[in-house]
Amino acid sequence: GHPNDSIAPGKNYPYAFTVNNRGGTYWYHTHAHHLTAKQAFGGLASFFIVEDDDQLRLARALDLKLGETDLPLVIQDKRFNAAGELVYQPSMMEKMMGYLGDIVLVNLTPNAYLEIGPRFYRFRCLNGSNARAYKLAFMRGKEQLAYQVIGTDGGLLDRPYPAKQAFLAPGERLDVLFDASALQQGETVFLKSLAFDPMENDSMMGGMGGGMMGGKGNNSMMQMHGGGRLADGLEFNLLKLVVAKAAQGPREVPARLSALAPLDIAGVQPRRVKLSMDRMQWLIDGRRFEPHAAAFDARRVVEVWDIENAEHSMIHPMHLHGFSFQVLGRSNSPAALRPLATESGGLTVADLGWKDTVLVWPGETVRIAIDFRQAFPGEQLLLFHCHNLEHEDADMMVNYRIPA
Ligand code: CU
Repeated sequence: GHPNDSIAPGKNYPYAFTVNNRGGTYWYHTHAHHLTAKQAFGGLASFFIVEDDDQLRLARALDLKLGETDLPLVIQDKRFNAAGELVYQPSMMEKMMGYLGDIVLVNLTPNAYLEIGPRFYRFRCLNGSNARAYKLAFMRGKEQLAYQVIGTDGGLLDRPYPAKQAFLAPGERLDVLFDASALQQGETVFLKSLAFDPMENDSMMGGMGGGMMGGKGNNSMMQMHGGGRLADGLEFNLLKLVVAKAAQGPREVPARLSALAPLDIAGVQPRRVKLSMDRMQWLIDGRRFEPHAAAFDARRVVEVWDIENAEHSMIHPMHLHGFSFQVLGRSNSPAALRPLATESGGLTVADLGWKDTVLVWPGETVRIAIDFRQAFPGEQLLLFHCHNLEHEDADMMVNYRIPA
């Protein structure tokens, strides 16, 4: 998945690899140099679902069937012209901030609708958008219904975690169980994205939106960034669920889902990885992407990284290639995250388990742990980049090297 391995038109590149990932909801997409945003927006992306014993045990326990009661949901905002063709024409501002669509699709469907029965459903939510983050909630009228988070980017959590809201940034996955068994025939529930201020913690923009936009959670810069059509942080429906059929299913969610051992970080000196902007250019460690140079070497041990976002910045979903990581803590987080904190260190449900992408807010520092010990003996050149695809294409990406 390195941009140096792009495939020219008419050419091919045979891949062969052993899938040794934990079971989970993965995805794959184009990573062509400076073309990722346009090509992923155009559709070069898909799910890659991996099963393992823990996943199969959960499916048996709740009688879940992929495509029926276990549903992958890719959430993407798109723009279309009058002929119904996709439009990808980012302005200079949008290349810097990210390209937002004016319609939000779930599994490529506008106003997505699903008839359900009164039982458990598993929704494998993937944010496949270029730049838009979502705040996921199940709403019955004005009431937020509780759901259970069972997995993140790298598969199942150790146990289910109750939640009513969770952020999902581009590239992230959130696996949830929704219990419809107490709902009545004909009842409607919406999976929604709730309003939030994506610039809340920003030293210059933060809080401006609340006053100017009547507390709708957006702000003037984001208005421009969204072309004034569907601004970042607005509330909207993603998926309409209607209880319209009879169904029965097991009621007991397993108390244990999988084994998850916290990485041992005793004595590890954190590596600081600073996100910043200089003259309209997003930077990691003060650098923009150089395809053949490494920003730093990773050691074949457990490393701890402090990903530190600038005070005046925007949200960056930071994505690591090659290794899953664990999120250890958040500091200087925006107030919007506080009610979502589940654990010590200010972690939200979306931070638990194994991750490959983590949302970093303006002004925030997110601490992660990565285990670089491995059997492969050779040198590796791997990527760390922002999963806002316009940021990635604008070179908010570095190589890190693992020496032989
Ligand atoms: Cu970014």
